[in-house]
Amino acid sequence: MPQGAVAADIGTDHGLVPAHLVLTGRARAVYACDIGEGPLNRARRTAKALGLEGVIRFRLTDGLDGLEDEGIDTAILAGMGGETMAGILSRAPWIKTRGVRLVLQPQSKLDVLEACLSENGYAIKDAALVLEDGKHYVVLFAVLCEGDKPRALEVLLEKRDPLLPAYLEHCISKQEKKLSGLRRAASPDEDEIRRAQEALGALRNMKEETKAWQQ
Ligand SMILES: C[S@@+](CC[C@H](N)C(=O)[O-])C[C@H]1O[C@@H](n2cnc3c(N)ncnc32)[C@H](O)[C@@H]1O
Repeated sequence: MPQGAVAADIGTDHGLVPAHLVLTGRARAVYACDIGEGPLNRARRTAKALGLEGVIRFRLTDGLDGLEDEGIDTAILAGMGGETMAGILSRAPWIKTRGVRLVLQPQSKLDVLEACLSENGYAIKDAALVLEDGKHYVVLFAVLCEGDKPRALEVLLEKRDPLLPAYLEHCISKQEKKLSGLRRAASPDEDEIRRAQEALGALRNMKEETKAWQQ
């Protein structure tokens, strides 16, 4: 994330991200936002414990609603499903007018989020994998940009993320299960089976490419 940002952490819950951004000096102003009173109060407690009560700004809001006049240049959405994130971004067209940068960590439905980004003119400029308690998490940095719109996995492949081979194993196994489920359906959908096969092939090809890294 760029230094000196005016950031909004959407779905902040405990408010750890805003606290981190302030304590490290990464942001000059931070909005801690959540749709729930309970989570927002947790964020307030975190801020109070760290002496940041007067520094972090709190907003009880659905997604990015009501934040358009706050000068936000970076929005962080972490720990929500990709579909929820896509909905939040689509309901806030002002982020495109302002060129708001996005830091995203979807818990699921990466493909839905990628499609939403691309439809709205955003390109994934950076991506990273994080491994915690045996589970992989994808983190994306997206900016408004004309031209190529690479998928997250392509960015991770290009930058040779060291966790990518293991993550691909996980994706391949998930996709194999999906495909066998589709084939066992009472009335198999041939188009969907074909798409699932293609996706599995692409994942396997990527896995092959990562093998070259070790040579
Ligand atoms: C699992 S927590 C993630 C917390 C934190 N961002 C993280 O990554 O650890 C998800 C939070 O998103 C909030 N949330 C869900 N939908 C939201 C929405 N439409 N707008 C704002 N917050 C939302 C929930 O209330 C909850 O506090």
